[in-house]
Amino acid sequence: LDLFFEKKDLLGKRIMITAGPTYEKIDPVRFIGNYSSGKMGFALAEECARRGAEVTIVAGPVSCNISKLKSQVSIISVESCQDMYDAATELFPDTDAAILCAAVADFRPAEVAEQKIKRVGQTMDIHLVPNPDIAASLGQMKKEKQVLVGFALETNDEEQNAQHKLEKKNLDFIVLNSLRNEGTCFRSDENQISIISRDGQTDYDKKPKREVAADIIDELVRNINRQ
Ligand code: CTP
Ligand code: CA
Repeated sequence: LDLFFEKKDLLGKRIMITAGPTYEKIDPVRFIGNYSSGKMGFALAEECARRGAEVTIVAGPVSCNISKLKSQVSIISVESCQDMYDAATELFPDTDAAILCAAVADFRPAEVAEQKIKRVGQTMDIHLVPNPDIAASLGQMKKEKQVLVGFALETNDEEQNAQHKLEKKNLDFIVLNSLRNEGTCFRSDENQISIISRDGQTDYDKKPKREVAADIIDELVRNINRQ
């Protein structure tokens, strides 16, 4: 009966979502990573599937439950930014929209040691080189009818920085994750967001990630229908 009342406003649409952290190898047993759980990306995938979309998640090493995903969701597991970039740029041309939820490492070690690095000396330096910007690359590839959504987590000048990313990466809108409230964002089940588009900014209340996902997908649907 529930099915009967659900809105299927993404029926027939193909959506790609990047989620989770990336791991950048230092040596065979170590990496540079971050605290992203992937929960927000998976909540978005579930919401898109619920509304009838065909979803592909390009997931870094996530720490959330991927076993009970709906059948319209497929998952491609990757580790590094470069892996995620390769998968995302290959999939993007066949999608109606992409949501870039992953917390991608901006830099990676210039070299990956073949053997475990030993504890020698009093200091240790790892030289880092820049990773590709997946969002910016998809922004350049984007065709007229495609919608591209980014995320931003800022600690200062939040709105201004998010606005700058929106333009620089050619996004249709950007979801600003607020750190203003304790207990939101990383590892949490709740989130407080603002959505920044070319039309301006909308602030939402702190809510469970599933409801946040619904707000974001409502905005996505408005953008898809406007194209
Ligand atoms: N992003 C991406 N590939 C990268 C870095 C970021 O696709 N190599 C995406 C993120 O998934 C997010 C958006 O770009 O949707 C903004 O990420 P963020 O880290 O806030 O932006 P950066 O351009 O990396 O800027 P900053 O210096 O603030 O980290
Ligand atoms: Ca970054």
